[in-house]
Amino acid sequence: MTSTPASIDSRDSSADLLGNVLEVDQVISETSDAVTIRFSIPADMADDYAFSPGQFLTLAIPSERDGWVARCYSISSSPSQAGLAVTVKRTADGYGSNWLCDNVAPGSTLRVLPPSGQFSPRSPEADLLLCAAGSGVTPAMSILRAVMESITGRVAFFYANRDEDSIIFRDEISALSDHFGDRLVVRHWLEVESGLPTAAEFAGWAAPFKDREIFACGPAPFMEMVRAGADIAGFDTFRIQTEEYRSLSGDPFQPIAEIDEDSLSDAALVEVNIDGDAHVLAWPTTHTLVDVMVLNGIDTPYACREGKCGACVCRIGQGEVALGRTDALEQEDIEEGYVLGCQATPTSRNIKIEF
Ligand code: FES
Repeated sequence: MTSTPASIDSRDSSADLLGNVLEVDQVISETSDAVTIRFSIPADMADDYAFSPGQFLTLAIPSERDGWVARCYSISSSPSQAGLAVTVKRTADGYGSNWLCDNVAPGSTLRVLPPSGQFSPRSPEADLLLCAAGSGVTPAMSILRAVMESITGRVAFFYANRDEDSIIFRDEISALSDHFGDRLVVRHWLEVESGLPTAAEFAGWAAPFKDREIFACGPAPFMEMVRAGADIAGFDTFRIQTEEYRSLSGDPFQPIAEIDEDSLSDAALVEVNIDGDAHVLAWPTTHTLVDVMVLNGIDTPYACREGKCGACVCRIGQGEVALGRTDALEQEDIEEGYVLGCQATPTSRNIKIEF
């Protein structure tokens, strides 16, 4: 783990760190071991903290030993709701989740990176199959709320929990189901009643929805069950989006070192196309693409800066790069030219990148 100076308080808004210090305006107890933490977003940060349903936030959790540790939590609110909320469930040995559940109250402040992540439907009008286990409901709830707020989108929701009392958002899901009728079909699966769901059992329930895209979030065995069940039911495997719990070992809040003049002498030239704009930048081998974009003031998608979250995925149109870690990419992605901006350094002179 990268240690951070305990003498710096990540909640000091004047500290030279990435991200912004946000104030908590509401804490909602969802179950005996889960809370929703809602941040208020100042008007001048509204663009930075705009998000798509299913994305996540990276929080700096204060730590006496390390100064802070970085943890990612999925957003549970929908983009149309006021504020920006994450829902956090205690895990037995989870420092971050226990600290948040024990310490955060209205008026608390935390340093937060802008939203990131690719676990979002292309349109809230889509018909989807959501699958969640336990706290994996968090991004699913953001997507569910957004789709129900649309005019025509429909959701089938397979939601697995240990027992009735551990169902996060139970009352709201019930109310949505009552209100939206056929647009929302919910299957609660309780382990105390039925054991863990098998692929065949899931396939039997999911088969009528096999034309839909699947969004699944939960522990690894649950995700394997969903993939196997979707295969049995005849889903197109290219239409399964998964979000897995991620733990970070580095510190994405650390400021990026400035580029020195010497390293610019043999820098590559990169044209970055993002959000409809083209930026031509000098890209020295000493810095990653994300570093160079952030230093040039470009609104850059990133979170972990260690190759794990996939927030910075982009595609090479011309030229070549070297990659460090590629945990967030499949081999087919790499073969198709996808790279991670936070892990890419240039190995040719002229490069084009598409986000
Ligand atoms: S920022 Fe997470 S993989 Fe690049």
